[in-house]
Amino acid sequence: MKVLVTGGSGFIGSNFIRHVLTAHPDDSVVNLDKLTYAGNPANLKDVERDPRYAFVHGDICDATLVRDVAQGVDAVINLAASTHVDRSLMEPDEFLRTDVFGVFTLLEAVKELKIPRLLHISTDEVYGSVERGSSRESDPLRPSNPYSASKAGGDLLALAYWQTHRTPVLITRSSNNFGPYQYPEKVVPLFITNALEDKPVPLYGDGRNVRDWLYVLDNCTAIDLVLRRGKDGQVYNIGGGHEVENLVLTRQILQLTGKPETLIQPVRDRPGHDRRYALDSKKVRQLGWAPRHRFGDALAATVAWYREHEAWWRPLKSGEFRAYYEKQYGNR
Ligand code: NAD
Ligand code: DAU
Repeated sequence: MKVLVTGGSGFIGSNFIRHVLTAHPDDSVVNLDKLTYAGNPANLKDVERDPRYAFVHGDICDATLVRDVAQGVDAVINLAASTHVDRSLMEPDEFLRTDVFGVFTLLEAVKELKIPRLLHISTDEVYGSVERGSSRESDPLRPSNPYSASKAGGDLLALAYWQTHRTPVLITRSSNNFGPYQYPEKVVPLFITNALEDKPVPLYGDGRNVRDWLYVLDNCTAIDLVLRRGKDGQVYNIGGGHEVENLVLTRQILQLTGKPETLIQPVRDRPGHDRRYALDSKKVRQLGWAPRHRFGDALAATVAWYREHEAWWRPLKSGEFRAYYEKQYGNR
């Protein structure tokens, strides 16, 4: 199978490309990535010379380029997106462009070139905050921030192409991922690296918001399964099945890094902060998927990875990130 992965130089994308090249020796991968602040060629340094891997620098909103690179592929997997909720509150434009218009560009190319499959990667955030129970794929979308609203727009457009043109799209909606190569603006790598630097960890609001944590390698096996065995026009939730309050997660990270709880710094809450996400993942489990990694072990492995890969994350925490972080929290 020849696959086009968009956004392959980001967190999940780079883990997914490595997974495909390892699990499927006959597959080849083209990675189309704009290399925004979140895209990093270093994430795929180890596969750069693999003859089955090719990189194209570009934007999924560029229709001509997308048609060029998509020519002759068996499937497109769209992981290109603007992804950080806090940034979507300050600068939403790029979210609307990539997460809605970018999806439209891919849909048009897949329709026109008759590509057999487009797997669009989405998020549990499109269902909005869930006080009780868990979201099913058929539930209405109630996004509450510009990031999740843009993602919901992309999802609805993809499903509309299936309804009207029978464009062969599938969607996965996963819960919060963590693991190696995650940009250190997201809570897990931010708190691990801040702790390793003996810096405060800024905990939003009362710290009682709940996220359902999924190890990125488990998400990769689920995406791969849906790509090969999923049904066109269908949505698949992928939940880690491990709900944790932010304060509990923070304490676990501090314990694993060997740092004191005095590093916890309560800060002003994120505006419109969703209280809880939870997914019903029966449908993908019926395809044969289950997470293989236990949360505690995976979190410990993640802390160990950041400890051992300081040369990867330290440059990311200067420059653009530093300016962004200081805008949020001041100079600490
Ligand atoms: P990321 O921010 O780490 O990476 C995004 C990648 O997309 C980067 O390499 C970036 O350069 C690229 N990109 C951005 N705009 C582009 C454009 N216009 N054209 C081409 N490339 C572009 O993101 P991630 O955390 O790996 O998320 C990947 C996908 O998974 C996203 O669709 C996100 O919504 C979804 N998702 C993420 C999580 C999570 O916890 N990280 C959970 C559920 C769903
Ligand atoms: O649920 C899936 C989503 O998970 C993905 O679609 C998004 O792309 C991804 O960014 C993530 O969104 P969250 O907003 O849940 O992730 P984030 O790491 O930003 O925050 C996780 C929780 O931690 C959330 O309740 C906010 C809180 N938090 C976050 C940061 C960055 C803090 O308390 N302090 C922080 O500094």
